[in-house]
Amino acid sequence: MTLSISLTVNGKPVTADVEPHILLVQFLREQLRLTGTHIGCDTAQCGACTVHLDGRAIKSCNILAVQADGLEVTTIEGMTKDGELHPMQAAFKDCHGLQCGFCTPGMVMSASALAAESSGLTEEEVREQLDGNLCRCTGYHNIVKAVLQGAEAMKASG
Ligand code: FES
Ligand code: FES
Repeated sequence: MTLSISLTVNGKPVTADVEPHILLVQFLREQLRLTGTHIGCDTAQCGACTVHLDGRAIKSCNILAVQADGLEVTTIEGMTKDGELHPMQAAFKDCHGLQCGFCTPGMVMSASALAAESSGLTEEEVREQLDGNLCRCTGYHNIVKAVLQGAEAMKASG
């Protein structure tokens, strides 16, 4: 049995038939081929699968595709506009906030949602709020630096 869902993905309307048990992350990666959203654990632990759902950061391995029916999803592919990196992506690049890059899409999605919700972030807040996004490589120092820089850049660009 499949169900028809209609949603917006990276600004484009999408209608698709999905099996009711399919996770949002599987739908994005396997049906829409948006493989920038990674799967690290599949159990809501690592944050690699983070996307925006109606502007809020959520772990896409933690909800069903059918639960996104009627909503707006943004993945890492939707962050770059007209070939320009989103300020949070640019900050990760500038600050060397990645090594292997596996965690990076999820980090950028969580960090950009966090920055959009707050007027001024401290290092402590960044560390606390991003504790649901795990990185095996960097030791987090440059990630925190990138998030603070990206948040400033987002504020400056309005
Ligand atoms: Fe979703 Fe790890 S794959 S939190
Ligand atoms: Fe490798 Fe974070 S850069 S897991």
